[in-house]
Amino acid sequence: MATARICVLLLALSSTSAEDVKLKHKTSNKPVRLFTEEELGRYDGREEGQPIYMAIKGVVFDVTKGREFYGKGAPYNALVGKDSTRAVAKMSLDPADLTSDISGLSEDQLESLESVFEGTYKTKYPIVGYTASRILTEDGSPNRAFKPEDQPLFQIKDEF
Ligand code: HEM
Repeated sequence: MATARICVLLLALSSTSAEDVKLKHKTSNKPVRLFTEEELGRYDGREEGQPIYMAIKGVVFDVTKGREFYGKGAPYNALVGKDSTRAVAKMSLDPADLTSDISGLSEDQLESLESVFEGTYKTKYPIVGYTASRILTEDGSPNRAFKPEDQPLFQIKDEF
């Protein structure tokens, strides 16, 4: 637990450069798209020169500029090409946590997730799309964790 807290602190500290702040306030006109699990899986850093994508809370970020964290053989490569919400919330790289499932997480873990989502990913990396599963869960039932306010560049016309 203590390690996870230190890591969150390091993350918060690591995301405050002037360039990063600029990105947070820039409105992008680039279209965003929906990703199936399979499509997202193609952007897992295995090929040099290809973009690297990762989703948190159903929001797909282009983390290519963080290649030293996420590229092939890099320490956080396991997190990319998928929605790694649970892993980020728990600061865990356990394969069982490499999922969008947030059930049973503690208040602290959910808070930590918010802080890394807002303070690191939304600040540092461009949003390129959303996962299809953010609206529907695997069994087709509505995803109750879906929050429209987490979809900053999303417009309903992008859905269809
Ligand atoms: C004791 C263990 C760990 C230490 C000391 C550590 C240290 C760090 C440091 C120093 C950074 C910021 C680097 C920078 O911006 O230059 C960072 C970023 C990060 N760490 Fe860790 N880390 C640890 C474990 C973990 C684990 C287990 C996870 C699992 C999810 C994790 C996920 C991340 C993520 C997602 C980032 C953000 C990278 C980015 O800015 O894109 N860390 N870590």
